[in-house]
Amino acid sequence: MACLFFAVSCKSQKGTTGTPDRYNTQVDSVLALMTLEEKIGQMTLYTTDWESTGPTIRKGYQEDIRKGTCGALFNSHTVAFTRQLQDIAVKESRLGIPLLFGYDVIHGYKTIFPVPLGESCSWDLAAIEQSASIAAAEAAAAGLHWTFAPMVDISREPRWGRVMEGAGEDPFLGSLIARARVHGFQGDHFNGTDKILACVKHFAGYGAPIAGRDYNTVDMSERTFRDIYFPPYKAGIEAGARTIMTSFNDLDGIPSTGNKWLLEEVLRKENNFTGFVVTDYTSINEMVNHGYAADDKHAGELAANAGVDMDMQGAVFQRYLKESIAAGLVSEKQVDEAVRRILRIKFELGLFKDPYKFSDAQREKAVVFAPAHLQAAREIARKSIVLLKNEDKVLPIANGKKIALVGPLVADRNNLIGEWRASGEGEKSVSILDAFQERAARDGFTFTHAKGCELTGDVTTGFEEALRNAQTADIIIAVVGEKWNMSGEAKARADISLPGMQEQLIKELVATGKPVVVVLMNGRPLTIPWIAEHATAVVEAWLPGTMGGLAVADVLFGDYNPSAKLTMTFPRHVGQVPIFYNEKNTGRPFDPNNGYTSRYLDMPNTPQYPFGYGLSYTTFTYDSMMVARKDYSFSDTIIATVNIKNTGSVAGEEIVQLYVRDLVGSVTRPLKELKGFEKIKLAPGESKKVTFKLTSKDLAFYTADMTFKAEPGAFWVMVGPDSERLQKKEIRLVQ
Ligand code: NOJ
Repeated sequence: MACLFFAVSCKSQKGTTGTPDRYNTQVDSVLALMTLEEKIGQMTLYTTDWESTGPTIRKGYQEDIRKGTCGALFNSHTVAFTRQLQDIAVKESRLGIPLLFGYDVIHGYKTIFPVPLGESCSWDLAAIEQSASIAAAEAAAAGLHWTFAPMVDISREPRWGRVMEGAGEDPFLGSLIARARVHGFQGDHFNGTDKILACVKHFAGYGAPIAGRDYNTVDMSERTFRDIYFPPYKAGIEAGARTIMTSFNDLDGIPSTGNKWLLEEVLRKENNFTGFVVTDYTSINEMVNHGYAADDKHAGELAANAGVDMDMQGAVFQRYLKESIAAGLVSEKQVDEAVRRILRIKFELGLFKDPYKFSDAQREKAVVFAPAHLQAAREIARKSIVLLKNEDKVLPIANGKKIALVGPLVADRNNLIGEWRASGEGEKSVSILDAFQERAARDGFTFTHAKGCELTGDVTTGFEEALRNAQTADIIIAVVGEKWNMSGEAKARADISLPGMQEQLIKELVATGKPVVVVLMNGRPLTIPWIAEHATAVVEAWLPGTMGGLAVADVLFGDYNPSAKLTMTFPRHVGQVPIFYNEKNTGRPFDPNNGYTSRYLDMPNTPQYPFGYGLSYTTFTYDSMMVARKDYSFSDTIIATVNIKNTGSVAGEEIVQLYVRDLVGSVTRPLKELKGFEKIKLAPGESKKVTFKLTSKDLAFYTADMTFKAEPGAFWVMVGPDSERLQKKEIRLVQ
């Protein structure tokens, strides 16, 4: 049967389910026609059986769509496939309610951008928004309506494989990036055909699994949750994210998917979230393993009553919700509310007006892998590359140098695009070897290349060729790292050093006495103490995406002057984990002259590279910072200024950072907290004054009585190029 509903034009995504607006009337008119089974169908999300060669529809799902008992699908993309599925929903189901198509478009759909952790190191909100916006445009052109991104989970856990999907350890920067990504995906409205629904995930606290092991228990104080982990979710909601995904973990003993406090109190009541809540994959069912639900039916009741609107892949709502309603264990009113939220979003997207709105084969052809997208991917990959060490100014590579490219990632294309690659195709990315060959042909130089060893395993037979090449070179570029699937979901590592024989290869290259530049490609902070000490230069390129090889070459040859700064601390040793910059002081802060202070016997407390750290091919000096005055009232603006000068010989960008410390609080406070930054570009010899403005709101936190406010007293305001090299001024907030 064709769609029964009147055409609705989509003007605004705003409004709440509680506000009587035109969407509510339309939603109610649909709801009134629905059977309970059809309502539960809207709360049901299934994956298609997408295989490497293409999609298949399991008969079961096809039937579900036809019967109106499945309202949304994921892993269903391309115009051809989504059209085929939408046809069933619109033409063959009783009410013709259009399907919603979701997919994990995390860092690009086909044009793959650097992994989000890498992108976050650019601290470039406009570029990050652009990357999400391009991902949305490509995904929408391929028939998609909804991405399961951004992942905004703060993490202090480099062992956890999913740090590659996030924005690092800091709530302030993480919040700004969450906002940029949500806005990039969704824009201001869904009037056009290039924006898709964002899904802020994983709610909540998923980034803090005990021991870094994925899915593991999360246990933290409510204060830490609200001060550190919650802000990026909040920022995503405030940016208008229309959907939120629950997390797999339990939090203080309650699995997120059955956590009424999280979903009703924190999300909907405190933060006015009006979109719908989807579970993570079978996370309703998993509440049985958690020991929180007796069986799937019970788990479904807990989830529905906690405020879950849509069941991803668990089939629990579909199988049991009707029975639970009949038994009075879930109210039909609760179900109606969930269905209202879901239908409303389908209206907001304009799907009732045109269920095929996103489905246009011409557009798909023109938009996916568009040259402008590839160019943007190259730009942001360059902006994400962090220069960690550059002794003797060995980089950029000087003209005329004989180069030996060595390492398992030199010629590799597939690993560059990392995990959560959506529809990305590894073989279509540009490797470092490709980029060097292009340059060599253009600029007339020659170089050698050898693999040396694999990323994993203990085979060293390739060392000989690599070392032979190295002997005749002036400079060795060693490209090493992690496999693409060593980070991502379920990819925790207990040992976060370079896998396999790679470090041994580097040791032997260094032993040649030639300068060795180590280019790292990885999805998490690694422990690289030997390399940090002995390599001549270290470049953190992350898993840089489709255009990664070109971006790395741009940096190595100096066409792009690196400007990125780390958004996650690099430990010296995994035993230091969790290690993060915004720690507290303890009652016995480290004192080298006192053994009974907070320390390790066998390791410094300090990281290998701190949060906010990154070098440039030029140098910057910071003049003495100034604050406008010492005392400020709660309504004043606190102003801090600093002059920065480019003292080197090339133009460069610097990310100037501002931190604060609240010296005495009703609860203990971090030693420093990022509260501002500015990325400035300076020509050689040029200076610029950077002005930071803070208000008392920026100094607020959850106080002893759990109210969010600033407390009067003394603060340090600190400015510098990273979280360690800071100058400070003391100010006072007075009542
Ligand atoms: C499980 C992951 O945790 C989540 O992030 C993802 O969106 C879903 N699977 C769907 O693929």
